Amino acid sequence: MMQTQEDMNDKKQVEVIGDRCRLSRDDADLLYLELIPTQGEALFIIDETGLTALEEAVVWLGKQEAKGLVVHGNDRGFIAGADVGLIYSIQDPKEALAFSRRGQSCFQAFQDLPFPTMAAIHGPCLGGGLELALALDHRIASRHPSTKLGLPEVRLGILPGFGGTQRLPLLVGLPGALDLMLKGSTLDGKRALRKGLVEGYVPEHRLVQRAAEILTHPARRKTKLCWRDHMLTFTRLGRRIVRKKVEKSLTSGPARFLPAPGKLLEVTLAGLVDVGRGAYDAEAQALADLATGPECKNLVRLFFGTEQARKLDRKLLSGLEDKHYEKVRSALVIGGGVMGAGIAGLMAEKGLSTRLVDLSEDQLGQAMARHVGNVNRKQRRRRLQPHEAQAAKDRLTASTKVCGYAQADVFLEAVAENLDLKKRLFREAAAKGREDLLLATNTSSLSLGDMAADLPHPEQLVGLHFFNPPEKMPLIEIIAQKQSSPKALARACELATRLGKYPVLVQDGPGFLVNRCLAPYLGQAVQLCEEGVAPALIDRVAEEQGMPMGPLRLLDEIGWDVAAKVCDVLAEAWPARMSASPLFAHMVEAGLLGRKSGKGVYVYGTKSKDRPGHASALQHLIQDKGLARASAHAPSKLEIRERLFLPILTEAVRCLEEGVVSSEDELDFAMVMGIGYPPHLGGPIRAARSDGVETIVARLSELVEAHGPLFEAPRMLIEMSQEQTSARPQKKEESHVQDPR
Ligand code: NAI
Repeated sequence: MMQTQEDMNDKKQVEVIGDRCRLSRDDADLLYLELIPTQGEALFIIDETGLTALEEAVVWLGKQEAKGLVVHGNDRGFIAGADVGLIYSIQDPKEALAFSRRGQSCFQAFQDLPFPTMAAIHGPCLGGGLELALALDHRIASRHPSTKLGLPEVRLGILPGFGGTQRLPLLVGLPGALDLMLKGSTLDGKRALRKGLVEGYVPEHRLVQRAAEILTHPARRKTKLCWRDHMLTFTRLGRRIVRKKVEKSLTSGPARFLPAPGKLLEVTLAGLVDVGRGAYDAEAQALADLATGPECKNLVRLFFGTEQARKLDRKLLSGLEDKHYEKVRSALVIGGGVMGAGIAGLMAEKGLSTRLVDLSEDQLGQAMARHVGNVNRKQRRRRLQPHEAQAAKDRLTASTKVCGYAQADVFLEAVAENLDLKKRLFREAAAKGREDLLLATNTSSLSLGDMAADLPHPEQLVGLHFFNPPEKMPLIEIIAQKQSSPKALARACELATRLGKYPVLVQDGPGFLVNRCLAPYLGQAVQLCEEGVAPALIDRVAEEQGMPMGPLRLLDEIGWDVAAKVCDVLAEAWPARMSASPLFAHMVEAGLLGRKSGKGVYVYGTKSKDRPGHASALQHLIQDKGLARASAHAPSKLEIRERLFLPILTEAVRCLEEGVVSSEDELDFAMVMGIGYPPHLGGPIRAARSDGVETIVARLSELVEAHGPLFEAPRMLIEMSQEQTSARPQKKEESHVQDPR
């Protein structure tokens, strides 16, 4: 709890504003403003009623005489930020401008109060919450691990629009402020203290009391900027240096596709030209433009996707009367190769007591070393305390024999892609493990239905399809076979969330969802090479569209052998449109597996950081094996882009049609999180809707002539195009106003 009983006894409630703000006064004439969340919410959110309550509170406060004011939240947090649903639904820039101006005036009124003010921050203090805290004279933070401060608006494609861009640089200096706002990162109390964002860092039970003590000792000095930050913030030369550096950083990575980072830089710099006046109008205008732009809507929709993913277990159980299930606390992972080692290490780090089993002692040694290396790196970066790092190491044990069934809640296999082997392992686990043992496979291509066929409890078998490397990739496909029970699926989803991943529910079928949509994109890249297009050009076109790396680089990362297996499975299922080029087999035969063998389409240095160099092996192989394809003309960049990205769309729509995934939102979310589909485009379906489905269908009918059935428009895409055509007179982007939560 944030307040001791003693504190409470000293205070008298003096005003209540709606059901969102409570004001009290103590014997020392200090006022306390407590922020109350709306019913059903854990945290205070700045929505219409929240902002109105703050406006009324500050008017009331302006009429008081007092020694000072402490603003605080509840024991869950301070303020979570502005209402994201509101940001998503705003279509009119004038409305967004008005909301920003209201927030700015309200916080200015807090800044102008005639007595000293203090934010006592415990739990999340994000976005508009930190902007309110910045408008107060002082800030202190609790030591609790849930305490985090930040202005993460840029992640939603907007900028802080309640004065944050103007006040933050004055407090922490221009370089620190831009760093925090452009990354959209958050700081815990200790790091906030180090950066000068707060003046104190105290146990949560002493927070409000300590805030009061500081206010009653006005002699306390605020921390000052060091001379370097002072120069970089308050001199024209300094700001020019910062601008140049930041502008350069904005030309690479996802920032180059988003308008928010550039606008944020401009507005922040503008505010420092005349510190007294600031550039509040420019900030509000920039927010209005950004909040009503397509990038913001796409990013906010993905944010809702993260919220949906976290609630997926509850959604799966919603139809059941008995919703109870035991959470997974211990794991038995079989196979300590590329995937199994990463998964077992991650589980141990996230608190599961984990046993890793492999036939090879060598593999186990490497797996343990990988886990220790990962944990040590996190400790060095202060993400783990020494005792947490030690516990994470201790939680992982290894053995060459499968044992410990009785203690395991989940049995996860990540052995080589061999159906008979996987079936045998599951039969053994079902016989020796507990009845409620969750059986999970990480297969990337085999049928789960086949694996479940002769199990005594087939309802316990699900897929937990991690992506490579499992420690880093944010998505897990939760695969449901026909007999998987909702509880087994919900347990798997809850586990995925606890591992820090986003689960998406996908039905059993060749390639599941993400690999099925990815394969034709990779296949087209290979075909373009066979037509004589330079690999570097193909990769550049994909990167210019916003992919984190091109398809040929990606093939090198996945490994041509692994990709070949997935392509075979897909080719067997849909031979007409998915037949794989023989080049895959030739690359494997020639030992050109990609990064893991040092050479694939590119050559790799010995360190993972080395940039891949050019290799002509692929082109030689195409010539030697007679795979070169005649092409009427060298394709333009636009054609290359269409050849790569349209098959992702057509396959994605087929998945929707067949019910592999249940909604457009989930599909787009999975493609962004699974393969890094450009987030600013919102996913393949969203991108198609904003480019115009009708135009795409017309273009596909041209491509199908030249390049075959992969480019055939699926029925559902044609229906979407007809819907879009008939809906056009009303509004093209009507789906923006629907809140997908
Ligand atoms: P890997 O070949 O690196 O590792 C397989 C490990 O299983 C080896 O260490 C091997 O010694 C061990 N093993 C084989 N038989 C065993 C047995 N009877 N008992 C205990 N250990 C045994 O394979 P990788 O890449 O880790 O793949 C494993 C699974 O994950 C496969 O089903 C694959 O399809 C899937 N997958 C792979 C991805 C990738 O990018 N490599 C991505 C997603 C899924």
